[in-house]
Amino acid sequence: MSNTESSDTHFFNSFSLVLGVLIVVAIILFGVARSIGADTQGQAVLLEPLRLKGVQHNTAPFGHVAIAGKDNSALTVVTAPAVAADLPTTGEMAFNKVCSACHATGVNGAPKMGDHAAWGPRLAQGKETLYKDALNGKGNMPPKGGTTWPDATIRMTVDYMVSLNK
Ligand code: HEC
Repeated sequence: MSNTESSDTHFFNSFSLVLGVLIVVAIILFGVARSIGADTQGQAVLLEPLRLKGVQHNTAPFGHVAIAGKDNSALTVVTAPAVAADLPTTGEMAFNKVCSACHATGVNGAPKMGDHAAWGPRLAQGKETLYKDALNGKGNMPPKGGTTWPDATIRMTVDYMVSLNK
Protein backbone atom coordinates (compact mmCIF):
# COMPACT_ATOMS: atom_id res chain seq x y z
CA MET A 1 0.00 0.00 0.00
CA SER A 2 1.49 3.33 -1.02
CA ASN A 3 1.66 6.31 1.21
CA THR A 4 -0.97 8.24 -0.75
CA GLU A 5 -3.34 5.31 -0.66
CA SER A 6 -3.15 4.94 3.10
CA SER A 7 -3.69 8.67 3.62
CA ASP A 8 -6.70 8.53 1.27
CA THR A 9 -8.10 5.61 3.21
CA HIS A 10 -7.53 7.46 6.45
CA PHE A 11 -9.32 10.54 5.07
CA PHE A 12 -12.20 8.46 3.78
CA ASN A 13 -12.63 6.73 7.12
CA SER A 14 -12.57 9.97 9.08
CA PHE A 15 -14.92 11.59 6.61
CA SER A 16 -17.38 8.70 6.84
CA LEU A 17 -17.20 8.80 10.61
CA VAL A 18 -17.91 12.55 10.76
CA LEU A 19 -20.71 12.18 8.22
CA GLY A 20 -22.19 9.29 10.20
CA VAL A 21 -22.07 11.24 13.45
CA LEU A 22 -23.76 14.25 11.81
CA ILE A 23 -26.51 12.06 10.41
CA VAL A 24 -27.12 10.50 13.82
CA VAL A 25 -27.22 13.98 15.41
CA ALA A 26 -29.64 15.16 12.72
CA ILE A 27 -31.92 12.19 13.36
CA ILE A 28 -31.83 12.82 17.12
CA LEU A 29 -32.66 16.53 16.64
CA PHE A 30 -35.47 15.58 14.29
CA GLY A 31 -36.92 13.27 16.96
CA VAL A 32 -36.58 15.86 19.71
CA ALA A 33 -38.20 18.54 17.55
CA ARG A 34 -41.09 16.24 16.73
CA SER A 35 -41.72 15.33 20.36
CA ILE A 36 -41.61 19.01 21.46
CA GLY A 37 -43.80 19.97 18.52
CA ALA A 38 -46.33 17.29 19.36
CA ASP A 39 -47.20 19.18 22.57
CA THR A 40 -48.28 22.30 20.72
CA GLN A 41 -48.61 21.68 17.01
CA GLY A 42 -51.51 19.26 17.13
CA GLN A 43 -53.44 21.48 19.52
CA ALA A 44 -52.83 24.54 17.42
CA VAL A 45 -54.87 22.94 14.67
CA LEU A 46 -57.64 21.98 17.08
CA LEU A 47 -57.65 25.34 18.85
CA GLU A 48 -57.46 27.41 15.70
CA PRO A 49 -61.24 28.03 15.50
CA LEU A 50 -61.27 29.08 19.17
CA ARG A 51 -58.30 31.34 18.66
CA LEU A 52 -59.93 32.96 15.66
CA LYS A 53 -63.09 33.49 17.65
CA GLY A 54 -61.05 35.20 20.38
CA VAL A 55 -59.36 37.43 17.83
CA GLN A 56 -62.69 38.37 16.30
CA HIS A 57 -64.11 39.06 19.73
CA ASN A 58 -61.14 41.19 20.79
CA THR A 59 -61.00 43.17 17.60
CA ALA A 60 -64.74 43.78 17.30
CA PRO A 61 -65.59 47.48 17.46
CA PHE A 62 -67.03 48.74 20.76
CA GLY A 63 -69.69 50.85 19.20
CA HIS A 64 -72.21 49.87 16.60
CA VAL A 65 -74.18 52.25 14.49
CA ALA A 66 -77.82 51.64 13.76
CA ILE A 67 -78.55 52.18 10.10
CA ALA A 68 -82.02 53.27 9.06
CA GLY A 69 -83.74 50.73 6.88
CA LYS A 70 -81.30 47.93 7.80
CA ASP A 71 -81.75 45.02 10.18
CA ASN A 72 -80.33 46.42 13.43
CA SER A 73 -81.48 43.61 15.69
CA ALA A 74 -77.87 42.59 16.46
CA LEU A 75 -77.30 45.95 18.10
CA THR A 76 -79.56 45.19 21.04
CA VAL A 77 -76.91 42.78 22.38
CA VAL A 78 -74.88 45.79 23.52
CA THR A 79 -76.55 45.94 26.95
CA ALA A 80 -75.35 43.22 29.34
CA PRO A 81 -78.32 40.84 29.52
CA ALA A 82 -76.88 38.60 32.25
CA VAL A 83 -76.65 41.47 34.73
CA ALA A 84 -80.04 42.82 33.79
CA ALA A 85 -81.57 39.38 34.26
CA ASP A 86 -80.78 39.09 37.96
CA LEU A 87 -81.02 42.76 38.75
CA PRO A 88 -83.44 43.13 41.64
CA THR A 89 -86.50 45.15 40.72
CA THR A 90 -87.54 46.29 44.19
CA GLY A 91 -85.64 47.68 47.16
CA GLU A 92 -86.82 44.76 49.24
CA MET A 93 -85.47 42.20 46.75
CA ALA A 94 -82.16 44.01 46.57
CA PHE A 95 -81.92 44.26 50.33
CA ASN A 96 -82.65 40.57 50.86
CA LYS A 97 -80.24 39.57 48.16
CA VAL A 98 -77.14 41.43 49.30
CA CYS A 99 -77.50 44.17 51.90
CA SER A 100 -79.18 41.94 54.50
CA ALA A 101 -75.93 39.97 54.80
CA CYS A 102 -74.62 42.81 56.96
CA HIS A 103 -77.63 44.94 57.76
CA ALA A 104 -79.88 42.17 59.11
CA THR A 105 -77.39 41.16 61.80
CA GLY A 106 -75.40 44.36 62.27
CA VAL A 107 -72.10 42.64 61.50
CA ASN A 108 -68.97 44.86 61.55
CA GLY A 109 -70.88 47.85 62.86
CA ALA A 110 -73.45 47.90 60.06
CA PRO A 111 -76.57 49.70 61.28
CA LYS A 112 -79.05 46.89 61.91
CA MET A 113 -82.54 47.00 60.52
CA GLY A 114 -85.02 48.12 63.15
CA ASP A 115 -82.24 49.47 65.38
CA HIS A 116 -83.61 53.00 65.68
CA ALA A 117 -80.75 54.17 67.88
CA ALA A 118 -78.26 53.18 65.18
CA TRP A 119 -80.31 54.67 62.34
CA GLY A 120 -81.48 57.88 64.04
CA PRO A 121 -78.29 59.91 63.52
CA ARG A 122 -77.80 58.44 60.05
CA LEU A 123 -81.29 59.40 58.93
CA ALA A 124 -80.67 62.86 60.36
CA GLN A 125 -77.85 63.30 57.79
CA GLY A 126 -80.46 63.36 55.06
CA LYS A 127 -81.12 60.93 52.25
CA GLU A 128 -78.55 62.42 49.89
CA THR A 129 -75.76 61.54 52.33
CA LEU A 130 -77.15 58.03 52.80
CA TYR A 131 -77.27 57.59 49.02
CA LYS A 132 -73.73 58.89 48.67
CA ASP A 133 -72.37 56.61 51.41
CA ALA A 134 -74.20 53.58 50.04
CA LEU A 135 -72.87 54.31 46.53
CA ASN A 136 -69.30 55.19 47.45
CA GLY A 137 -68.87 53.13 50.60
CA LYS A 138 -68.10 54.26 54.13
CA GLY A 139 -65.90 52.51 56.71
CA ASN A 140 -66.75 48.81 56.52
CA MET A 141 -69.59 49.48 54.12
CA PRO A 142 -68.31 48.47 50.64
CA PRO A 143 -69.28 50.71 47.70
CA LYS A 144 -72.74 49.66 46.48
CA GLY A 145 -72.64 46.87 49.10
CA GLY A 146 -70.09 45.11 46.87
CA THR A 147 -72.47 44.93 43.90
CA THR A 148 -72.24 46.37 40.40
CA TRP A 149 -75.86 47.41 40.46
CA PRO A 150 -76.82 50.71 38.86
CA ASP A 151 -77.03 53.74 41.14
CA ALA A 152 -80.82 53.78 40.83
CA THR A 153 -81.07 50.27 42.30
CA ILE A 154 -78.90 51.26 45.26
CA ARG A 155 -80.96 54.41 45.87
CA MET A 156 -84.16 52.35 45.73
CA THR A 157 -82.68 49.96 48.30
CA VAL A 158 -81.64 52.79 50.58
CA ASP A 159 -85.21 54.10 50.32
CA TYR A 160 -86.48 50.70 51.41
CA MET A 161 -84.05 50.54 54.34
CA VAL A 162 -84.92 54.06 55.40
CA SER A 163 -88.64 53.30 55.24
CA LEU A 164 -88.18 50.41 57.69
CA ASN A 165 -86.05 52.40 60.14
CA LYS A 166 -88.03 55.60 60.43
C1 HEC B 1 -70.18 43.84 53.96
C2 HEC B 1 -71.24 44.35 54.81
C3 HEC B 1 -72.23 45.31 54.19
C4 HEC B 1 -73.04 45.11 53.09
C5 HEC B 1 -73.09 43.89 52.18
C6 HEC B 1 -73.83 46.31 52.96
N1 HEC B 1 -73.51 47.20 53.93
FE1 HEC B 1 -74.34 49.04 54.21
N2 HEC B 1 -73.13 49.36 55.81
C7 HEC B 1 -72.20 48.46 56.31
C8 HEC B 1 -71.49 49.08 57.42
C9 HEC B 1 -70.40 48.41 58.24
C10 HEC B 1 -72.04 50.36 57.58
C11 HEC B 1 -71.62 51.42 58.59
C12 HEC B 1 -70.54 52.28 57.97
C13 HEC B 1 -70.05 53.36 58.90
O1 HEC B 1 -70.87 54.16 59.35
O2 HEC B 1 -68.84 53.40 59.12
C14 HEC B 1 -73.06 50.51 56.57
C15 HEC B 1 -73.84 51.64 56.39
C16 HEC B 1 -74.82 51.78 55.45
C17 HEC B 1 -75.66 52.95 55.30
C18 HEC B 1 -75.61 54.19 56.17
C19 HEC B 1 -74.58 55.13 55.57
C20 HEC B 1 -74.43 56.40 56.42
O3 HEC B 1 -74.29 57.45 55.81
O4 HEC B 1 -74.41 56.30 57.63
C21 HEC B 1 -76.50 52.71 54.26
C22 HEC B 1 -77.56 53.66 53.70
C23 HEC B 1 -76.18 51.40 53.75
N3 HEC B 1 -75.17 50.85 54.49
C24 HEC B 1 -76.81 50.83 52.67
C25 HEC B 1 -76.49 49.59 52.16
C26 HEC B 1 -77.11 49.02 50.99
C27 HEC B 1 -78.18 49.70 50.17
C28 HEC B 1 -76.53 47.81 50.79
C29 HEC B 1 -76.82 46.79 49.70
C30 HEC B 1 -76.73 47.29 48.34
C31 HEC B 1 -75.55 47.60 51.84
N4 HEC B 1 -75.54 48.72 52.65
C32 HEC B 1 -74.77 46.48 51.95
C33 HEC B 1 -71.96 47.19 55.84
C34 HEC B 1 -72.55 46.63 54.72
